[in-house]
This record gives sequence, C-alpha cells and structure tokens, in this order.
Amino acid sequence: MKKICSFFVLTLLTNISVMAQNKSKILVLIHSDNGGTYELAKEIAKGIESENTAVSYIKLVKSSQNPLLKDLPVATVDELTGYDGIAFGSPVYFGNISTGMSEFLSKTVQLWTAHALEGVPATVFMSAGSGAGKELALQAFWNTLAVHGMVLVSNGIRGTEELNKAIPQGNSVLGVTSMASLKDVERPTKGERHLAELQGKNFAKVTLALQGTHPPKSTVLHEHHVNFNDVLKQKNIVLPQVPKPAGNYQPFVRSGNLVFINQVALKDGKIFNAGKLGVDVNEQQVKEATKVTMLNVLSVLNEAVGGNLGKVKQCVQLTGIFNTKDDYTQHANLMNVASDLTVEIFGEKGKHARATLGASSIPVNSSVEIQAIFEVE
Ligand SMILES: Cc1cc2nc3c(=O)[nH]c(=O)nc-3n(C[C@H](O)[C@H](O)[C@H](O)COP(=O)(O)O)c2cc1C
Repeated sequence: MKKICSFFVLTLLTNISVMAQNKSKILVLIHSDNGGTYELAKEIAKGIESENTAVSYIKLVKSSQNPLLKDLPVATVDELTGYDGIAFGSPVYFGNISTGMSEFLSKTVQLWTAHALEGVPATVFMSAGSGAGKELALQAFWNTLAVHGMVLVSNGIRGTEELNKAIPQGNSVLGVTSMASLKDVERPTKGERHLAELQGKNFAKVTLALQGTHPPKSTVLHEHHVNFNDVLKQKNIVLPQVPKPAGNYQPFVRSGNLVFINQVALKDGKIFNAGKLGVDVNEQQVKEATKVTMLNVLSVLNEAVGGNLGKVKQCVQLTGIFNTKDDYTQHANLMNVASDLTVEIFGEKGKHARATLGASSIPVNSSVEIQAIFEVE
C-alpha cells in the first residue's frame, strides 16, 4: 500500500512539474505614472493565467516612486528574450506611447539586429486621459513591435457586446484602453477591466500555440553576435582612424580578458578644442572634445577585438580627466557624453563604473583624457 501511495505521489509530482514546464512565460511590461496602466496590467495578467496555461510577470520599464508601483520589479532589455510572449502597456502621451516606454524600446536595437524578438507574440494596452488619440497611440506601439517582427495579437471586437454603452469605454480593436480622466465612473470601468481580462486570456492562447516556434529564448542574443557595423551605421557613428601613440606606449594593452585604453581629444592629427575649461574653451567645446576622445577609445577598442565589437562583453570602467580650474565641479556632466555614447552603442553591456576628476593640465593641452577598461571575449 505504502509503495502504491509513493508511486502515486511521484507520478503526480512528475506530472505537475511537466505541466509547469510547459506553461508559457508571459511578461506584462508596463510604464505607468499614476497607476492606470498598472490597473489594466493586473486584469491582463489575470486573463493570462485564467486557463492555467501561462504564468505572467508584471514588470516596469523603469522604477517608480509612486507607492502603488514602487515595489514592482523593473525589467531589463536583455531579459525580453526569456519570455514566450510580451504584453506591453503604457500611458497615452500625445497620441503616442509614453516617453518611459519609448526610452525602454529605444534600447532594444541590439535585440532587433539579432532578430531576437522575431515571431514572439505581443499585445498592447494603454491608459489614456480623455482618450484623445488613443488608437493612434496603440497603432504607434504596433509600429515599433512590427519592426521587431513580433506577432501582433489584436482584440478585434471581442467582448464589446457586454459593454455598458451608456458611458464612454476604452474598447479598441488593437488592444484595450481605459480613459482615466472621465470621472463618471471608476476607471478602468468594469467593462474595460473585463476586456483587459479577455485580452490576456486570448493572448495566452496564442502564445501557447506559438510556443517553441520562434528561436530558443535567452540564447538568441548570445548565439548571434550583434553586427556593430550595422549599429554604428544606423546611429551615424563613424569611428576615426586609430590614433598613433605619441610616446613609448601601446594604444591598448590586453591582460587576460581586460583591455586597457587611454586617449585624448586627437582629431585629424590635431588636438580638438584644446585648452583649459573656462579659460580657452567652454563646456560645450569640452563636451565635443569628450565625444572625439571617446570615439578614439572605441576605435582602439575595435582594433583590440579584431574589428568585431560583438566580442565586447562589458565596458567595465571609464575615467574622465578634465583640464579645469580649481573650483570647477561639473565634471560628471561633461563625462556623460562619453558614458551616453558607450551605452548607446553597447546597451546593457555599455553600462560601466566611472570616475571623473579635474587636472591642472593634460598632455598636449587636450581639454580631456579618457581612460577605459573593457572586458572582451
Ligand atoms: C505628456 C502627457 C501626454 C498625454 N497625452 C494624452 C493624450 O494624447 N491623450 C489622452 O487621452 N491622454 C493623454 N495623457 C493622459 C495620460 O494618458 C493618462 O493620465 C493616463 O491614464 C496615465 O496612465 P498611468 O495612470 O498609467 O500613468 C497625457 C499625459 C501626459 C503626462
């Protein structure tokens, strides 16, 4: 009897574990300022999980101080490939997706060039104020996701028969919306919540059907090295020729997997915007010199990885040294030019530790010097 019971429990546990493995993983990725989008997200998640075929994860595109949202986890761009489907939610901003969502999506260039989201199902929902431009906004969401090659799952007229037609409702064929500033009833309305749940339920059904038909997740990015020539071209970034050393040193040294590089603002054989900040050059000129310097760093890095920037695993540390007067304090603003450029090109891998400092003089009268450490394959 004991043996039969153990066998039964074992079989049950195995079945549960297999069922759990087969469940789709669906990310409900939102930006929300006031919580309206989050309210819809919860209904979408409820619908996703209603048939017990999928698990949902509500995450923010950026952290929030709003007490309603501050405990929600924040998604990273790289984790997007780890889901079987993604439901995107955002407030309507001027008939478009919100700035927060737009900023997050603009960091997905590397996923795009790696075809990482192709064939992955997506659906969209939005919280609006009056509802002005809500379908334009939903459509704008679709535009970006279509460029990623995602499979866009619409709502059609699903569930609209049951809506209370006596009040304005956020039903739309592309995805559910809510009109938060219409105060005659609580928003999202009962009907909007119901539509959101139906949208989630249908999305889970489509996601399950497509599970396993797109490239295996999470490995995609690592299998395909991003073509950085395309990334640079697309961002209109031209790497200069590698500057020649002006002394007894190398443009870079590789030690293990770390590459060490130091550069000044040399452009076309001359120092660009030379001199001391506040005496010879202003902040704008130093920022331009910082960009020139960082491009030199990247050009040397490109040489260090044999022309394949896809081999860069991480920008570990950047140090910016600026030729400033003693009382200058805004070094961080100047250095952001170099940091932003690095993140723009490498995405998450471009995020680094950083130091900035002022110096009373810099070799060859450059206004800036950058020291960089990269981890490479
Ligand atoms: C910059 C900005 C632009 C907005 N533009 C629109 C708009 O075009 N149409 C609209 O209906 N609501 C608009 N709104 C209102 C928001 O869409 C609305 O407050 C929404 O419910 C916010 O969602 P949340 O509660 O998730 O933050 C705008 C709000 C902001 C801050």
